[in-house]
Amino acid sequence: MHKKRVYSGIRATGRLHLGNYLGAVKGMLQLQDEYDCVFSVVDLHAVTTPYESTSLADATRTVILDYLGAGLDPEKCLIEVQSFVPEHIELSYYLSTIYPVSRLEDLPTYKDKKAQHPKYVNMGLLYYPVLMAADILLYKGERVPVGIDQEPHLEVAREIARKFNSMFGETFPEPKRFATEGEYIPSLTGEGKMSKSVEGSFINVTDDLETIQQKLAKVPTDSGQLGGQIPQEGGVATLFSLMYLLGGKELHHKYVLDYKDKKIRYADMKKELSDVIYQELRPLQEKRKYYEENPHVVDNILREHANKCQEIARQTIKEVREKMGFLVINN
Ligand code: TYM
Repeated sequence: MHKKRVYSGIRATGRLHLGNYLGAVKGMLQLQDEYDCVFSVVDLHAVTTPYESTSLADATRTVILDYLGAGLDPEKCLIEVQSFVPEHIELSYYLSTIYPVSRLEDLPTYKDKKAQHPKYVNMGLLYYPVLMAADILLYKGERVPVGIDQEPHLEVAREIARKFNSMFGETFPEPKRFATEGEYIPSLTGEGKMSKSVEGSFINVTDDLETIQQKLAKVPTDSGQLGGQIPQEGGVATLFSLMYLLGGKELHHKYVLDYKDKKIRYADMKKELSDVIYQELRPLQEKRKYYEENPHVVDNILREHANKCQEIARQTIKEVREKMGFLVINN
């Protein structure tokens, strides 16, 4: 029977943080046993915002190591470096010809990046969601484990799939997001989401216990005298959210009761939270170390998997070229 294909990617911007881990990687881990999965480090996307050419290769490798450390199993899923499979670029060009520029200009993610880097508004940035659609559709991905922030991009991918199908015949499935419990991880600053581009907002999956403790110590809290309902925003909300996801329901409940009874001690809560976060991350860090010390093992996986990915990708490109009416010469 045909197994559903799963595709997801993370930009090559260096170490993964808890948001990436809980929002995306946990979903990948859940799906790799049952589905045909391709998980990518999207380096072509990483160069659409300011970056250092001297550290791109390292940043790409770092995400691969974090993936392998977290338990993506090279026997079960394909691990891809996006630029090793240039068919992504080819398909994105074909797809760009059927999608309106005005829709891309309206996307909130594009507007945010434009505001963040007003001197770096390039064609690639506008084109970003088309390339992302091509990533998924190249493999005919049906499920996409990503955080909730990626929903507007997935909507573009679905629109492109529908448009292509209606113009050239049924070709692509409409990809759906696979949501994890941690689909939105708030920032340690108490404002917005945990994000690589906001200093002080994140915990990396490779942080040691002391670093985690230091980062949590800075999370802003109230005086502990408020009681009532747990706040929905701010540093205290972040602490409770992380406690729920990493400490479990029971521990979370204990602190909720303390909060309601106005006897919460944030120093204790932060200490316990540091411990549970570190407990979750320690096995990842140990496994990661093995791959870090054996780069040839990683290179072999990447080489082998790039070939397998390309085999699938070439079939899609062939089909797309035929359907769009390009000249095809049989060998
Ligand atoms: P990126 O690199 O920004 O983020 C990678 C993944 O981490 C998730 N994420 C979060 N989840 C919950 N809470 C947070 N605070 C948080 N921060 C990040 C993101 O939702 C994402 O799943 N456009 C994508 C990369 C991409 C892609 C693709 C994804 C390119 N092509 C094809 C899936 C399929 C991005 O920028 O992710």
